[in-house]
Amino acid sequence: MLNFHGQHILSVHQFERVDVERIFEVTDQMRPFGRREKVTNPLKGAILSNMFFEPSTRTRVSFGSAFNLLGGNVRETTGIESSSIVKGESMRDFARVLSGYSDVIVIRHPEMGSAEEFASASAVPVINGGDGANEHPSQALLDLYTIRAELESQGKNVDEFRIALIGDLANGRAVHSLLKLLSLFHRVTIKLASPQGLDTPPQLVELLRSRGATVSESHDLHEGIQHVDILYVTRVQEERFASQEEANYYRGLFRLNQEIYSKYCESNTVIMHPLPRDSRAQSQELDEDLDSNPNLAIFRQTQNGVLVRMALFALVFDVVKQVQSSASKPTWHMPRPRIA
Ligand code: CP
Repeated sequence: MLNFHGQHILSVHQFERVDVERIFEVTDQMRPFGRREKVTNPLKGAILSNMFFEPSTRTRVSFGSAFNLLGGNVRETTGIESSSIVKGESMRDFARVLSGYSDVIVIRHPEMGSAEEFASASAVPVINGGDGANEHPSQALLDLYTIRAELESQGKNVDEFRIALIGDLANGRAVHSLLKLLSLFHRVTIKLASPQGLDTPPQLVELLRSRGATVSESHDLHEGIQHVDILYVTRVQEERFASQEEANYYRGLFRLNQEIYSKYCESNTVIMHPLPRDSRAQSQELDEDLDSNPNLAIFRQTQNGVLVRMALFALVFDVVKQVQSSASKPTWHMPRPRIA
């Protein structure tokens, strides 16, 4: 079992099944804080440095919100051009300096392995917010937490489910981390469907099979989305291609809309996507006509991201008990109208 206190969170390979269960148990405890029914401040005085050297909305803001909801302060740097890395500073020097200013650091960087390199010189815990096409561990955790919540709400078995991952399976770090996490579940059936040329890295398929999962691969969207409980759609990761032309070749090849869903999917198949979805006309891998489909879980997924990230901070700072003992009723109330 992992001792989370003071640990870097760099890869889902760090976790055994028992660690994932522990994270989800703590995540459940964060629900009243996410709903603003309670407030708490066990991280009062602590500083998170949010270092995002690639574009981000969800990961950056939800890590920041999660830290704020635990009473901590957030400092942000976004864009390599806003940091002294452009003056030639090494990742190691950068990490040593930053860890003198912070109590925990979340980093997103375009290069694979960058979070690990950064962490090796950091005096404080580092959380990988995405390193190139390699890993996005907190995304995989929130995805798996959402999968379980959605299956539970349908009264289904959370240990023996059928999932299809579709789209750019070669370059999606969210997919790569999720597949590694799914390898902890031995009775899962996994369908991988991608345009030819965007296949899942073979070592991931091999890992899943060696751990007991049933895995099939295809290049056919319609076949790939049938007979599953969960459909996990991904965008063509244009930022990982050598040229825009190459990315354009794959754009729009796999599109899911309500008509295709109705024709090929089971009536209660849950639709997920790590987001952002690409809603430009030439892409639309997840059509907005699915927004009124009650099985579309993408915004429940993003909300769960805050809770899972709160749990990670509570575990890394070893303040899970204090989250509850510091809890009080908020002195304010913000009416929240339903978003159409
Ligand atoms: N899912 C995800 O990583 O989203 P962002 O790129 O907006 O952080």
